[in-house]
Amino acid sequence: ATAGKVIKCKAAVCWAPKQPLSIEEIEVAPPKAHEVRIKIVATGVCRSDDHVLSGAISNIKYPLILGHEAAGIVESVGEGVTDLQPGDKVIPLFAPQCGKCRSCVNPDSNLCYKIDIGKYDGVLLDKTTRFTCKGKPVYNFASTSTFTEYTVVDDIAVVKIHPDAPLDKVCLIGCAFSTGYGSAVNAAKVKPGSTCAVFGLGGVGLSVIIGCKVAGASRIIGIDLNSNKFPKAKEFGATECINPKDYDRPIHEVLTAMTDDGVDYAFEVIGNTGVMTSALLSSHFGCGKTVIVGVAPANATMSFDPLALLTGRVLMGALFGGWKSKNDVPKLVCDYINKKINFDGLITHTLPFEKINEGFELLRKGESIRTVLSL
Ligand code: APR
Ligand code: ZN
Ligand code: ZN
Repeated sequence: ATAGKVIKCKAAVCWAPKQPLSIEEIEVAPPKAHEVRIKIVATGVCRSDDHVLSGAISNIKYPLILGHEAAGIVESVGEGVTDLQPGDKVIPLFAPQCGKCRSCVNPDSNLCYKIDIGKYDGVLLDKTTRFTCKGKPVYNFASTSTFTEYTVVDDIAVVKIHPDAPLDKVCLIGCAFSTGYGSAVNAAKVKPGSTCAVFGLGGVGLSVIIGCKVAGASRIIGIDLNSNKFPKAKEFGATECINPKDYDRPIHEVLTAMTDDGVDYAFEVIGNTGVMTSALLSSHFGCGKTVIVGVAPANATMSFDPLALLTGRVLMGALFGGWKSKNDVPKLVCDYINKKINFDGLITHTLPFEKINEGFELLRKGESIRTVLSL
């Protein structure tokens, strides 16, 4: 009944940084060719949305609708959309998969050229937005914009998932879980019996631990400045946890002493370039692999003696856990349904959508791992 018509609904509009989101009535235009209009059912509160609210991401256009970790149901589709129909359960993809660009045709890359993160054009592929509020256009965020009852995305930025999927859980496959888990099983390719170090025990770091455990690592060492994060890390599979504050020497020296000259795999899941170097030096000189998962602030640089790599270490990074989103997200959802993976423990809080600002407060105070908002 709503297909082809403008939908009026509630959304959390970000008018400017450093102020609360404001719940407004917005208009959502129907999808154009190769676009999909989605009713959002559940959406997570992620650190990357907060980077926009805090002003840390400066090259972005306001007003906009944030949110990129979600699950919902297709309301209507535009012309030429062949793989989705109204009623399908879906996950929006902040890392789209066009299937045609140089990255998409390379089996080893997932960084589709159509990604908006970093560029922050804030529009769909046709260079316009489907949102208006109080007569003004409202920009998109990360190809997704999920802090709204209805959103419109390009068909390369959304994928159909299994009809039995619980949307209030699998929304985390849209960002935090897949990013961390994929960094271990897909980017690093952790081997059975190996030793891993995970720096940063937030939602993404805990998901790295889940991946290390599924991959059969025998030692998983969690590192965090906040020891309150340790019990949960152990629940997810950390075999030991250490706090750099408890030592009077550099943490990489502590780790190499603990692990017969260094770990097999080190993961930086904070976004601190100093910690990235510590992670690298914690890995074994001849065969250690380090994966950068955390997003460092703009203009930050890493520095280290290149001999650290010459002896055989590998340093790499991965966005969205290296997953090719359209191909892999439905498989991850099936793994969740079949209980091959479980990440329910990441969800520490659930709130109605209207309390979105409370969700961000919980994140900033370090009280929540993940808050899921229900619409
Ligand atoms: N050494 C050790 N631990 C630290 C340090 C440090 N120097 N600085 C911060 N931490 C810990 C914090 O105490 C916190 O537990 O790192 C953890 C980071 O967790 P969150 O802030 O909850 O972040 P998360 O959502 O897990 O994301 C981590 O991944 O995707 C990226 O943008 C995201 O860069 C961010 C990173
Ligand atoms: Zn995210
Ligand atoms: Zn592509």
